Amino acid sequence: KKVVLAYSGGLDTSIILKWLQDTYGCEVITFTADLGQGEELEPARAKAEQMGVKQIYIDDLREEFVRDYVFPMFRANAIYEGTYLLGTSIARPLISKRQIEIAKEVGADAVCHGATGKGNDQVRFELGYYGLKPDIKVIAPWREWDLNSRTKLLDYAEKNGIPIAKNKRQEAPYSMDANLLHISYEGLALEDPWVEYTEDMFTRSVAPENAPDTPTYLEIEFEKGDPVAINGERMSPAAMLTALNKYGGDNGIGRLDIVESRFVGMKSRGVYETPGGTLLLHARRGIESICLDRGESHLKDELMPRYAELIYNGFWFSPEREMLQAAIDRCAENVNGTVRVKLYKGNVDVVGRKSAQSLYNANIASFEDDGGAYDQKDAAGFIKLNALRLRTLGTQRGVPK
Ligand code: ARG
Ligand code: SIN
Repeated sequence: KKVVLAYSGGLDTSIILKWLQDTYGCEVITFTADLGQGEELEPARAKAEQMGVKQIYIDDLREEFVRDYVFPMFRANAIYEGTYLLGTSIARPLISKRQIEIAKEVGADAVCHGATGKGNDQVRFELGYYGLKPDIKVIAPWREWDLNSRTKLLDYAEKNGIPIAKNKRQEAPYSMDANLLHISYEGLALEDPWVEYTEDMFTRSVAPENAPDTPTYLEIEFEKGDPVAINGERMSPAAMLTALNKYGGDNGIGRLDIVESRFVGMKSRGVYETPGGTLLLHARRGIESICLDRGESHLKDELMPRYAELIYNGFWFSPEREMLQAAIDRCAENVNGTVRVKLYKGNVDVVGRKSAQSLYNANIASFEDDGGAYDQKDAAGFIKLNALRLRTLGTQRGVPK
């Protein structure tokens, strides 16, 4: 019996590794993904080796993550409940996919993750697993063991010789999740939604009030809806998101403090940093505004909340997500051009946009003489016919109060 564990190298998944070996007596294969969380991954290898793991997978998935997950999602301008940029949600399907590939490679019959039984992540991981390998067995230790308090967990680690960073006894860490798109903080003092976050928790952005007093201007070039160059310099998807994070973070962009509705039914409070993603969202809206027709653009915006909810709830590998993606990608084919943005103390302003395929017609829109491009007389009939039903109603039922 073999099980592939999604292993971060941190305390919790190290405890899980030991617990799996003890409880199931099975061979554990560890899989650690570099999604741009900004942590050294080699210590994870050393730790796994120390615990007797023979097959250790450490994969750099950064380019695939941004190219095949983050950018496709951004083509929809996806945000959940009006605010959340889905930074954790979008990483889960890729982890599931790679974990299942490894399970197939090594002939494992089970996979294991370290998400709790209260959250979204368990659902996202497992919907991915089952979708990609319907007969897979899933082990979710948090739903099985009785190590249900920080103290019990630390005692278990101590008893089993799992090293605990010295400050961990006194100060529990926030529940965090990081990748190239975002970092999240949940738990501890944040569990009271009235309590403000503290400045010391942030790692990817300066406070807007401490950001530079002079604005930063960027020219971001888009091809088929994806950003490909900044100030004329072409970059790979992962390099692009890294650069956007730096510009955004330096200017105090992309902090978010929300209470969100988890799929399992509860409300939860989270604080997020998504500097590059926030910048990208605004820039994308800027280029779409001249490249997309009203009809396609509005329909896309209507579908967006559905699409975002699918990703939040873990249905990346579902036919309905793929249907929506096909429509969104079709739309994105026309999104080519350059946006100029001004970054200043937490704000992103689109201050210029241009495209060879622009639908903006200065002559038609102009307040000056347009030489007959648009006949203002036509508007009278347009309005009269649109008013027909309102006039009929007004006559029949009386005018609105
Ligand atoms: N609440 C966010 C979400 O559901 C972030 C979850 C963070 N996950 C974690 N394991 N710390 O997408
Ligand atoms: C967890 O419960 O493991 C993290 C939070 C979440 O998945 O929503």
